Amino acid sequence: MLELLKTRRSIRKYQNREVEQEKIDAILKGALMAPSSRGRRPWEFIVVNDKEKIKKLSSCREHASGFLSGAPLAIVVAANADIGSIWVEDAAIAASYMQLMAHSLGLGSCWIHVRERPYDDTQTAEDYVRGILDIPDHIKVLCILAIGYPSEGRPVHQEESLLYDKIHYNRF
Ligand SMILES: Cc1cc2nc3c(=O)[nH]c(=O)nc-3n(C[C@H](O)[C@H](O)[C@H](O)COP(=O)(O)O)c2cc1C
Repeated sequence: MLELLKTRRSIRKYQNREVEQEKIDAILKGALMAPSSRGRRPWEFIVVNDKEKIKKLSSCREHASGFLSGAPLAIVVAANADIGSIWVEDAAIAASYMQLMAHSLGLGSCWIHVRERPYDDTQTAEDYVRGILDIPDHIKVLCILAIGYPSEGRPVHQEESLLYDKIHYNRF
């Protein structure tokens, strides 16, 4: 597990190669096993492999999402906010599980943030994504995971650069 955590990096460049359905299934199965507040599992996952839709989604943020157009797969992570106020935490954990699952399967991924981010001066990134994928209003969008076989290498996390001063025992 530590090796997996050490070698996972955000990957934004992908090979021109489809992700096999078995791998997509495994990633999603991992998400469905994520813990959630009171076991309420408010998440919803929209798997997008339609190239046109991926291209449209890649414009959801002015600068932070363009690389999605080069990915063969996107998973939009959303949740039913009517189920509980801490859907953000639940969805974030599931997204994180999927990133680790993807990495464990030899895939790269990167989180594209959507919640509380603008698309432009008149529309939120969330509403832009909602429009492309017909997401109903009570389903809130947290992020999009771009996923694919990596075509860039990133250095693994270095033990020396870990912020051990963030750790406190018994008091701050
Ligand atoms: C909550 C969250 C939001 C993020 N939003 C974006 C984003 O919109 N676009 C992007 O390219 N990367 C985004 N990232 C990826 C971070 O930039 C990346 O995780 C960070 O630079 C650390 O690098 P690493 O993942 O390779 O360890 C996000 C990551 C998290 C956890």
